[in-house]
This record gives sequence, C-alpha cells and structure tokens, in this order.
Amino acid sequence: MARLLYVEASPRKERSASTGVAKAFVEEYRKTHPGDVIDTLDLWGTTLPEFDGEVIDAKYAILHGQPHTPGQKAAWKAVEGVIERFKGADKYLFSLPMWNFGIPYKLKHYIDVIVQPTYTFSFSPKEGYKGLITGKKAAVVYARGGAYPAGSGGETFDLQKRYMEQFLGFIGFTDITPIVVEPTLGKPESVERTKAEAAARARSAAGAF
Ligand SMILES: Cc1cc2nc3c(=O)[nH]c(=O)nc-3n(C[C@H](O)[C@H](O)[C@H](O)COP(=O)(O)O)c2cc1C
Repeated sequence: MARLLYVEASPRKERSASTGVAKAFVEEYRKTHPGDVIDTLDLWGTTLPEFDGEVIDAKYAILHGQPHTPGQKAAWKAVEGVIERFKGADKYLFSLPMWNFGIPYKLKHYIDVIVQPTYTFSFSPKEGYKGLITGKKAAVVYARGGAYPAGSGGETFDLQKRYMEQFLGFIGFTDITPIVVEPTLGKPESVERTKAEAAARARSAAGAF
C-alpha cells in the first residue's frame, strides 16, 4: 500500500483549472491503485508555521551544527510535523496556478517549511548539497492564463515550472511528470478543450504512476 500526497495550491476550488486537472489524476489513480492511500493537503485550508523568530533561529542552528535551545526546539516541532507528513508519502502530486510568472505564496511558504538541512537535503564540504528524497515520483499540474511553450521565447517568463523543478530536484527528485494546462484565459470553448486535453493527459499519467 503506497501513500500519495496531493498538494493543492490554488484557492479557486471547483473553478480552478489546476485543481480540476489534478482531480482527474486523483480519480484515475484511485481506480488504478485501489489499495493506496491519498492524503490531500489543501494549502489554503492549512495553517503553516511562520518562518520567523525561534523557528528561523532553529534552522540556522542546524546549519551551524549547534544544538537547539529549549525555545528553538519547541518552535521547530511545528516544522517537523509538516516535514513528517511530506516525507511520509511515497509519491507526490502538486497542482498550482502561475501567479506573476511564479508560484502562489502559500506554496512558497510550504516549500520554505519543508526544505530543511538534515531532513530533505544534506550538505557536506566533501559532497556538497544532496537531496534526501530519493527514489520517489512526483507529478505536477501547472495552470497558466497565458501560454509559454518551449521554443516560443515565452518560456523564459515561465518561472513557475522552472522553480518547481529546481525545488524538487534540490531535495532529490529525478522522476517528475509535468502536466501543463495553458492557456486558461481565452474563449470559453477553447479553454474547455485545453482543460479536457490536460485532464486526459493527467488520467493517462495517473494510470502509470
Ligand atoms: C494573482 C494572479 C497572478 C497571475 N499571474 C499570471 C501570470 O503571470 N501569467 C499567466 O499566464 N497567468 C497569470 N494568472 C492567471 C492564472 O495563472 C490562470 O488563471 C490559471 O488558470 C489559474 O489557475 P487555477 O485556475 O488553477 O487557479 C494570474 C492569476 C492570478 C490570480
């Protein structure tokens, strides 16, 4: 029995293109992997620890190889809880809108919480940085109002997909399936077609995931 963590990063619920396509993935995944557990993390319905005060001091203490003070230890517990849920999964599905060429701030907050030395990456002068989440797959649904296809020149503005791949690669992922939904702003008939085509790609990715 495997555990799929689905991280939902659009606040638009049933109006969301990224969530809609991710739901098609999840539906097909449920059918094709009936024994698996799907854990949904709605980032807009979750309170994440602020990354300030004792929490940020706790991170620097780890980076400097120093023990946590009692205050840092207590504050760090909330970060550890979020990381534990993330690391407890065997496979990952993310869905997110493009916001100002990048990712929504709730997802950035989540990434700032889970990317931690000794938990999701390591550093040594000899080996440099190493991702610790290895041998696990991720699928990522990207929705964008415009279109940023490779070779169009527009792809240089796409910091959404580039950032997700950078972050996932940094913590150790090598098997990342992108599912792009674009453009989502335009004539209703063509947007519906775009979403339906992306949902079909998502279902086919889910079956083999
Ligand atoms: C705050 C905000 C910023 C946006 N920035 C961009 C952008 O930089 N480029 C783009 O193509 N679309 C942009 N959009 C449009 C969304 O990417 C598009 O509507 C997408 O379908 C949203 O995904 P969702 O439907 O899953 O929420 C933006 C939308 C919002 C609300």
